[in-house]
Amino acid sequence: MKPVKVGLLGLGTVGGGTVNVLQRNAVEIERRAGRGIVVSHAAARDINKPRICDTSDIELTTSLKEVVDNPDIQVIVELIGGDGLARDLVMQAINNGKHVVTANKALIAKHGNEIFLAAQKKGVMVAFEAAVAGGVPIIKALREGLSGNQIQWLAGIINGTGNFILTEMRDKGRDFADVLAEAQRLGYAEADPTFDVEGIDAAHKLTILASIAFGVPLQFDKAYTEGIGHITREDVTNAEALGYRIKHLGISRRTDSGIELRVHPTLIPERRLIANVDGVMNAVLVKGDAVGPTLYYGAGAGAEPTASAVVADLVDVVRTLTSDPENRVPHLAFQPDAITDIPILSMDEVETAYYLRLQAEDVPGVLADVTRILGDAKISIEAIQQHEPAEGEQYVSIIMLTHRVLEKSMNQAIGQIEKLKSIHGAVTRIRMESLQ
Ligand code: NAP
Ligand code: HSE
Repeated sequence: MKPVKVGLLGLGTVGGGTVNVLQRNAVEIERRAGRGIVVSHAAARDINKPRICDTSDIELTTSLKEVVDNPDIQVIVELIGGDGLARDLVMQAINNGKHVVTANKALIAKHGNEIFLAAQKKGVMVAFEAAVAGGVPIIKALREGLSGNQIQWLAGIINGTGNFILTEMRDKGRDFADVLAEAQRLGYAEADPTFDVEGIDAAHKLTILASIAFGVPLQFDKAYTEGIGHITREDVTNAEALGYRIKHLGISRRTDSGIELRVHPTLIPERRLIANVDGVMNAVLVKGDAVGPTLYYGAGAGAEPTASAVVADLVDVVRTLTSDPENRVPHLAFQPDAITDIPILSMDEVETAYYLRLQAEDVPGVLADVTRILGDAKISIEAIQQHEPAEGEQYVSIIMLTHRVLEKSMNQAIGQIEKLKSIHGAVTRIRMESLQ
């Protein structure tokens, strides 16, 4: 049988990695897929730019549309990023009856509902394993391996750049900007790296995971997103002294009233495996009612780890080229007519424990005022530490760990604490999860 022809949109980090893996492992891939898979055409902005892969057997063009409209091409692999032009190209590819593979989480999180509907009507597949957690096959695990379970919650380190920055800052005391520049050089960061550090990229990925876990439509606009920019070395050290690590987590939980969908820095007990996931590595912890907790771990970004997921999707697409479109694995795991509208909870309605850091004047009665406010809000305190001011500093740091409470109660209490004359500046609040 003739090899399947693939058209590549984008020849950067992931595009180059995908060509390399397809070429190097061609024999193994053909043995698995039942047919060869070759990139026959590729488009990039500058076709004369040096690439990390050998493009001598590929027809290169600057016209993305030319590739999408080429009748010889059966599968389009979208690796340009963004959610404007990429959306139009993917919709055009589907209209042309082509299968699509993409690593683009922004595209799926924001336009996935529309894209999957169009793909279903046309009987083509849209595969997106590489969109979440780089090379970790978490989509396949959640959509297929855990399909006998009711998923109760999931929590993941799903941005490699952010985890790399937090790890380098903690272990080597490196500067935030310096580590971010290295992540960009290594090809880990998004074209706009604020997506990594502000949690937007993780929120895109969490939106996708939650839809597959709970059978709800993709609702990126309802995700709560908080970045890592405000985490200080002092918070990292305090957390460690208390037996915790700070990780930037995406958390989604099914509760009686709806689904939590939130990305924020989180204190987690240091003995949890996920607390020890460092550098560019990602990990997703999924709790199913039948299987219990399961953990998926691997490289979250980079050329070949991401290509590993892109190529696995290509193999899946090629294997199903001849199968009945009505009987494929549904895009969001649940049959399209079985997607439900369980509400996504606002952050006010989320219950969690907290780490609080306050800067206070060293005068009698401050602690009593703070604990009174917390007590009135029915927030119980698990631990309190007071750190004497460093040489030449005026304020003492008060560190508190609380038991679980609704976010809206904590917001009100923090508002009142910040109004106390003896409290200086904003209260630092980091949410805590036991991940039991
Ligand atoms: P990249 O290195 O910046 O590559 C983007 C490629 O798209 C480049 O080859 C660029 O051409 C081409 N391109 C962009 N706009 C174009 C246009 N208007 N016309 C023609 N070509 C255009 O990006 P990447 O890191 O490979 O990421 C690609 C996608 O994978 C993104 O959606 C990203 O979120 C996702 N992803 C990345 C990683 C990772 O580790 N990097 C991991 C998982 C998912 P030129 O090279 O000529 O400029
Ligand atoms: N910028 C992303 C990250 C790429 O660092 O996780 C992988 O999706």
